[in-house]
Amino acid sequence: MSYIKNIFNKKSIFWIACAVILWMALMVILIVSVNKGNSSFSYKFKSTDDLKDVPVEVSIIVSQSWEDKMDDRNVMGAEYDGTVINKTGKEINDWRLTVTLPAADGYIDSSWNGTYDLGGNILNFVPDRYVYTIEKDSTRTFGFILKSEYIYETFEYEISGKYVTYKEEYPVYWILIVLSIVYFVVFVMFAAMQIKLEIRRRNDDEIIRQTMMMFVNSIDARDEYTKGHSVRVAEYAQLIAGEMGFDQEEVRKIGYIALLHDCGKIVIQDSLLKKPGKLTPDERHEIQQHTVIGGKMLEGFTSLKGAREGALYHHEFYNGEGYPEGLNGKDIPLTARIICVADSFDAMNSDRCYRKHLGKQRLIEELVNNRGIQFDPDIADCMIRLIDSGKIHVSD
Ligand SMILES: [Fe+2]
Repeated sequence: MSYIKNIFNKKSIFWIACAVILWMALMVILIVSVNKGNSSFSYKFKSTDDLKDVPVEVSIIVSQSWEDKMDDRNVMGAEYDGTVINKTGKEINDWRLTVTLPAADGYIDSSWNGTYDLGGNILNFVPDRYVYTIEKDSTRTFGFILKSEYIYETFEYEISGKYVTYKEEYPVYWILIVLSIVYFVVFVMFAAMQIKLEIRRRNDDEIIRQTMMMFVNSIDARDEYTKGHSVRVAEYAQLIAGEMGFDQEEVRKIGYIALLHDCGKIVIQDSLLKKPGKLTPDERHEIQQHTVIGGKMLEGFTSLKGAREGALYHHEFYNGEGYPEGLNGKDIPLTARIICVADSFDAMNSDRCYRKHLGKQRLIEELVNNRGIQFDPDIADCMIRLIDSGKIHVSD
């Protein structure tokens, strides 16, 4: 899941969104085009007209006739065969035909390929399903037996229906298909590349982390009471950064910076670090130098931006009474202010040779009381929230 989370970072989401918007725009164009293409038509003409320019031509001819009877009177029976020719260059469907006969006389005896309704001299024809569609340049036939006094030879026609256009007829459809394939291929390649990069990044991360751990453990392990201190400070700093809304990459960086915050202690003598009693001013000054030494050590560590500042300024106080430079407020780099809270919290939450760790209540009191004094008030509040929510465990 975390791989997927990394694949869909802000940049990739932007490009995916652009691709989706383009795809959807083309889709809308295609739908509109198809709907527009499926427009209705209606043509009206007479059988005596020149039908050369009529897009949907209709003709009805009498194929045979005979004498017949209707209501005891002599009439003519005739077979009328009709043809519809689609010359529109497009497929048509849902067509209807209205034929105006020369006279209102007679009745339909039988029919084929459709149903008929004769009212006066108006004959309405609705084709059966199987002749409902007429492909381009094709014909459909129909017919009926009409008994009437005369045999009719001239008619007026009105044919209506709908043009059918298929999405394949539009270039935009093929653009969509090609784009979809391209998107799919690019997405798969991109995802595979991202996963590969992520695996490599995690591997590199692990090497860096383990190297740093080896180094900081060698510092923390010198004193029984500070064992694991740097690792815990790094964890707290990351939780604070996460609570403050930093992104995943920034949180990861702050973890590394915090891990190295006390690296300057490597040159401080054991006798001073482990001294159980009160320190003399000189000794205190010497220990405080771990910030300056750490800052110098990390000066060349340019691949981890902020590492130097984290080591150099993590003992600065928000009110300017810290060391080594007496910076105050927001002049202290943010990472150093976060480490300051995380570092002090771990000190208060751990046993020392001269005192036991503080209880939860006391610890929160210390954080509150030192808001704006030692700690950045916002970061202290953040830490209190993390403690209250149980995300940071306080020793009993
Ligand atoms: Fe420190």
